[in-house]
Amino acid sequence: MSNPSIDAARLLGRIGMLGAIGRDAEGRLVRLAASDAEKLGRDQFVSWLEDAGLEVAVDRIGNVFGIWKPEGAGDTQPLMLGSHIDTVINAGIYDGCYGVLSGLEVIETLKGDGFAPSRPMVVAAFTNEEGVRYAPDMLGSLVYAGGLDVDAALAIVGTDGTVLGDELRRIGYAGPHEPGFMRPHAYLELHIEQGPVLEREGIPVGAVQNLQGISWQKVTIEGDANHAGTTPISMRRDAGYAAARVIAFLRERAKVSNTPTVATVGCIGFEPNAINVIPSRATFTVDLRDPDDDRLKEEEAALTAFLEKIGAEEQVDVSVERLARFAPVTFDHRIVELVEKAARDRGLVCKRMTSGAGHDAQMLARIAPAAMIFVPSVGGISHAPKEYTADEDLVAGANILLDVVRQLATKDS
Ligand code: GLV
Ligand code: MN
Ligand code: MN
Repeated sequence: MSNPSIDAARLLGRIGMLGAIGRDAEGRLVRLAASDAEKLGRDQFVSWLEDAGLEVAVDRIGNVFGIWKPEGAGDTQPLMLGSHIDTVINAGIYDGCYGVLSGLEVIETLKGDGFAPSRPMVVAAFTNEEGVRYAPDMLGSLVYAGGLDVDAALAIVGTDGTVLGDELRRIGYAGPHEPGFMRPHAYLELHIEQGPVLEREGIPVGAVQNLQGISWQKVTIEGDANHAGTTPISMRRDAGYAAARVIAFLRERAKVSNTPTVATVGCIGFEPNAINVIPSRATFTVDLRDPDDDRLKEEEAALTAFLEKIGAEEQVDVSVERLARFAPVTFDHRIVELVEKAARDRGLVCKRMTSGAGHDAQMLARIAPAAMIFVPSVGGISHAPKEYTADEDLVAGANILLDVVRQLATKDS
C-alpha cells in the first residue's frame, strides 16, 4: 500500500482563508457560534465540502457534516473526523479550524488517491464548541452524543440575549437531521495543543490519552449600592469586594495545592458599574479544571464553602448557577496506540498527554471510540491572536491523521 501525504499547500491555504473570515472592524477574529460572522465561515466550509464532492448534511443543532460514501463502503458506521469553526473573542486561526480542515484534507487526499475505505468517512464541524456565546461549551457535540436534549439546547439564551435556535434558523443552519443520525465507528480529532508542553520538550506530536474534567459556574453576589465617599468601610455590603475575595481565594488555593487544578475567573461585571458607587451586584464566572474527578469535586466543594463564608463575613447574598460540568474522559487506547505508531512510522517523536482544553472529542467519546492528536503551539498561546503553529508541524499532524484514518478505514479495523 503506497503511503500518500496530504496536500500541504491546499491545507495551509484553507487555514489562512478561513482565518480571514469573521474579522471585526479592528481586524480581530470574532466568529462566535451562529453569528453572522460564523455563517460566513460555515458557508466557506460548505463550499469546500461541495468542491470535494462530499454530501453535505446539517443537523438540527447546526452541526455540519461532509460525507464521503464511496462505492463498496456500504452503509456501515462511518469514521468521523472533526472539530469546530466557531471562535472565542479575538481568537487565533488554528483552534478547531485546523482539525476540521485537516479532516477535509485527509478525506480529499484519500479520495484523490483512489483509496477504497471499508466504511464511509465524515468530516464534522460542531456548533458552539467554544461556549463563549452559549453555555455549555462543546454544545453541538454534546447534543450529538445524546448528552443534552436538542430542544433544550436550541432554547438556550446566549450572553447577548439571543436564542440559539433562532440564530441557527436566521443564518440558515438549522438543519433537518436529528443529532446523532450517524453513529460513528470511531472519532478522531486533530488539534493544536494550546499549551506549552510539546514545544518545551521539542516533541512534534502528542497522542492524547485523556482530557481533564471541566466545571463552569456563574456566581452572583448581591450587596447594597451606596455612596463611595460617605459610607464607612464597616457599613458596606460591597458585592465588588466580595467578588475580589473569591477571585483571590481561587488563585491562592490553586497555587498552593500541589495538584494540576487550574481555576480562572474570565468574566466579571459590576452593577451599577460607576466610579463613585459601591457595587450592589457582582456577577462572575468560575472555570475549574482537573484531570481527577474526585479532586475536581473537592475544588467545587471548597468554592461552595468559601462562598458561604464570604456571604456571612461581607453580609452579602450569594447565588450560583451551574453552566457546565463535564467529567474527565479517557480516550480509546487502541487509537492512541495507532497515533503513536503512525508518528513512529513517519520518524516523529510522540508523547502521550492529557488535554487541558475541552474538545468535541470528549463528547463523541460517549458514543464511539475516540482519540486526539496534538501538534505544538508556539509559546503555548491559544485563545488569543498570537496563537501559532509552524506549517511543518501542521502538515506533520495532518499526515499522522491521514495514516491513522487509513488504518481505521481498512477492512477488519
Ligand atoms: C474550549 O476551548 C475550552 O477548553 O474552554
Ligand atoms: Mn478547540
Ligand atoms: Mn477553544
